[in-house]
Amino acid sequence: MIVPTERVTRNGCGSWRRLGRGASGGGRQGLPLKPDHGGCAGCVRPVALATLHCRELATIHYLGALHRTHKQVRMLIAGNWKMNTDVAAATALAQKVCASMGDTGNVHVAVCPPFVNLAAVGQVIRDTPVRLGAQNMHTADSGAYTGEVSASMLVSAGCHYVILGHSERRQHFGEADALVNVKVLQALSHGLAPIICVGEVLDERKAGRAYEVVEAQVTGALHGVEDTAPLVIAYEPVWAIGTGETATPAQAQSMHAYIRALLTAQFGKVAAAGIEILYGGSMKPANAADLVSQADVDGGLIGGASLEAASFAAIVEAAREKT
Ligand code: PGA
Repeated sequence: MIVPTERVTRNGCGSWRRLGRGASGGGRQGLPLKPDHGGCAGCVRPVALATLHCRELATIHYLGALHRTHKQVRMLIAGNWKMNTDVAAATALAQKVCASMGDTGNVHVAVCPPFVNLAAVGQVIRDTPVRLGAQNMHTADSGAYTGEVSASMLVSAGCHYVILGHSERRQHFGEADALVNVKVLQALSHGLAPIICVGEVLDERKAGRAYEVVEAQVTGALHGVEDTAPLVIAYEPVWAIGTGETATPAQAQSMHAYIRALLTAQFGKVAAAGIEILYGGSMKPANAADLVSQADVDGGLIGGASLEAASFAAIVEAAREKT
């Protein structure tokens, strides 16, 4: 098992291409500075992002603009099937997804079925552009962990991605940032690209703590991770998951820009620009185009709407049109 202090450099993900891979180093020298805003008595400058006091929209947009000058040319649309489908239904859904997928252009597409359906879905999507992902994994390589699944098992089943730290794992299974961090390192060491989920609950947003919460989740998940790691971050405000409520495009962009600034602080500007930051939370065909139009929204992690091939395909198409 990897401990969080190790640094992970492995890139086992085939066609993953990150802008400036290995070029910038970034690290602490890339710390974003707080812009002048004139209104927050508690701020000193220069200051690391983690100690910012003032998080008004303008500040967030300023930070995003500092580090992102153009829209990501590649996106990812990933379907999180959660605990839905048996083998037959998963096979049928995967067949429909493949059949309804037109030219995906610069959009990577992935489906993340339950563990027991990975093999069947993997068979269906073989030789198609659709990639396979899992929804969770254990931290250990193997051993006496009844009921668990390891990274190497996921790799052998054909997985490219693994969703980690989903809010449902945090809420129902007590997963905290430290555990997510160990899982991220373990996934990377096996060549899996982690899709790391972060997002605040409604009370935290109402209390004005959304940025602080997400910052702790992002930085907590990324201890010891190298700037070359094939990462995906999914911002999923918990109040928008499965509720029909969606963050407005402006709310999504604001948080995504903030996450981008955090990634820039850790990995440097060039590497951070190449990390896909997905939005998740009731994304559907009707709102997908507006969300993926935002400068720092690089795709979506789709729950409910991914269980219907036509909806999922429509979201992929909305993303393709924006790349
Ligand atoms: P939803 O789920 O699209 O059904 O809101 C998203 C997720 O939980 O990943």
